Amino acid sequence: MTKIAIWCRHDGDNIIGIGANIPWHISSDFKRFRRITEGQNIVCGQITYESFPNRTLPNRKIYVLTFDENYIVSAPENHFVVNNIRELKDFEEPLYICGGASIYKLFMQKQAPEIIIDSCFHGSLDPELNGAPVDISECIAKMQKDYRRISPDYDEDDITTTIWVKKGEFVPQEVLKHITLAIINQQKKD
Ligand SMILES: NC(=O)c1ccc[n+]([C@@H]2O[C@H](COP(=O)([O-])OP(=O)(O)OC[C@H]3O[C@@H](n4cnc5c(N)ncnc54)[C@H](OP(=O)(O)O)[C@@H]3O)[C@@H](O)[C@H]2O)c1
Repeated sequence: MTKIAIWCRHDGDNIIGIGANIPWHISSDFKRFRRITEGQNIVCGQITYESFPNRTLPNRKIYVLTFDENYIVSAPENHFVVNNIRELKDFEEPLYICGGASIYKLFMQKQAPEIIIDSCFHGSLDPELNGAPVDISECIAKMQKDYRRISPDYDEDDITTTIWVKKGEFVPQEVLKHITLAIINQQKKD
């Protein structure tokens, strides 16, 4: 299994959310996220899952991490409760780790992803939002130490995206190809 962490963070302070919300509204960011993850298996924490419209994302299987053994998902045929990250250890297909902060940290510590899709947002955070800022500085420090950039920057709107690969890891070409095409071909497909 290849694990891929995919995040978009605010440049400089590594904020990925305020309260339960993503604090920017860039449609190309959501479209790129959709294109990278469509048809794939994604993993997210319960707070992020609850923030998806109607608690779903079409055409994806969603693995929801929660300590609650009785947690009820919105679509049991495609969404699955995971109470322990170890349940995903021997997963056969690529897994896209989609946040939030606690889930990125968990994977960086326990099952380091082979690939990170690191997008940086350079604009201002939404001043209307209330709530605690959620940041992934620990993950970024680890990424800068243990990973190397393998792509040039891809810029669109106010967002710069780069692909990082864990040093010394083998990365299947078909996974990299899927990610690269999903990032750079987005205008053609929109
Ligand atoms: N910018 C981005 O790319 C991006 C992407 C995703 C999310 N976000 C933002 O990130 C924020 C949410 O992040 P968050 O860290 O607060 O919440 P989260 O990671 O989405 O979810 C946290 C929940 O995951 C469960 N969990 C955590 N560790 C676990 C473990 N070891 N085993 C089993 N379950 C575990 C717990 O659920 P229970 O409490 O049910 O046990 C915990 O409350 C929001 O602001 C969201 O908008 C941003």
